[in-house]
Amino acid sequence: MKQILTDIEAGIQKSIVQQLFFDECADRNISIFVKRDDLIHSVISGNKWRKLKYNVELCKNQKKTGIITFGGAYSNHLVATAATCKLAGLKAIGFVRGDELNASSNETLKECASLGMELNFISRAEYAKRNDKAYHETIGAEYRSMHLVPEGGANYYGIIGCQEIMTEVEEDVDDIFIAQGTTTTSCGVLLSLKNHQRLHVVPVLKGFDSIMEMRSLLTRSGIEQELIEDLLKQVVVHEDFHFGGYGKHPQSLINDIEQFYSEHKLKLDPIYTGKAMNCMLDCVQKDEFSDKTLLFIHTGGIQGGRGLINYNA
Ligand SMILES: Cc1ncc(COP(=O)(O)O)c(C=O)c1O
Repeated sequence: MKQILTDIEAGIQKSIVQQLFFDECADRNISIFVKRDDLIHSVISGNKWRKLKYNVELCKNQKKTGIITFGGAYSNHLVATAATCKLAGLKAIGFVRGDELNASSNETLKECASLGMELNFISRAEYAKRNDKAYHETIGAEYRSMHLVPEGGANYYGIIGCQEIMTEVEEDVDDIFIAQGTTTTSCGVLLSLKNHQRLHVVPVLKGFDSIMEMRSLLTRSGIEQELIEDLLKQVVVHEDFHFGGYGKHPQSLINDIEQFYSEHKLKLDPIYTGKAMNCMLDCVQKDEFSDKTLLFIHTGGIQGGRGLINYNA
């Protein structure tokens, strides 16, 4: 059984860094680059491969037969896990929030099922226990040979995969923008920052405490407390760009994404990257970055916004 996947085996393209041009930027001597992780794979795109790569390697090393993970009905992470496991010859089980759903409830779930993922629909009350140690132990006892990856790939292995993103950026950037869900990707990026760089995180959940969540994930991943506190000083949280909360996408946001696509031919999604890009451009317009070089990390996720955006508009 093939249980280790190199970038090449997974069909991963090295992601490029692309410059974006805006009139406002020229006036203020701002350069904007985008790290196009959305282009690394058609299904396992963006931060998904980064988070799964070392979890798959662990399966190989520990002789695990597959991955169990968690996700909502539109989860990018579930689809990516299903596709990765299929490529690696691993079994995939997804615990999905909502026992009213089934494998044909939407395109995301249909895709997971067609990729061979076993879908286990659980109640919201049970799903609320997804990060509890005792719940993991119960699952672990039932599926002894499987490796459990938390929702959104939020574990140590996910972080070290995301740490590789900035090692592929040669531009000398000052400020980096990224959408935030579980914080795994931003924690990985934070661990590879130079000390003059600032990481701007844009949580897509309403009322999310980014710093507390990042501290907690980094602590669980074994990073020293003193280093964590030092690193967190480089983080700037933009908590007002959730557009109503997770999965909420007012028409104004959809319009902005369509307008952005027509001008730059770059697809954003309404759950994550559309909100983060909106935030970055808002900051640029408020004159916060004169003479700076900015980097937007495109974390992929276009599948989650299927049918919502008209990219031909
Ligand atoms: C497209 C996209 N961008 C950003 C994120 C947020 O990443 P993280 O959960 O690592 O904070 C996600 C969720 O995984 C995502 O699917």
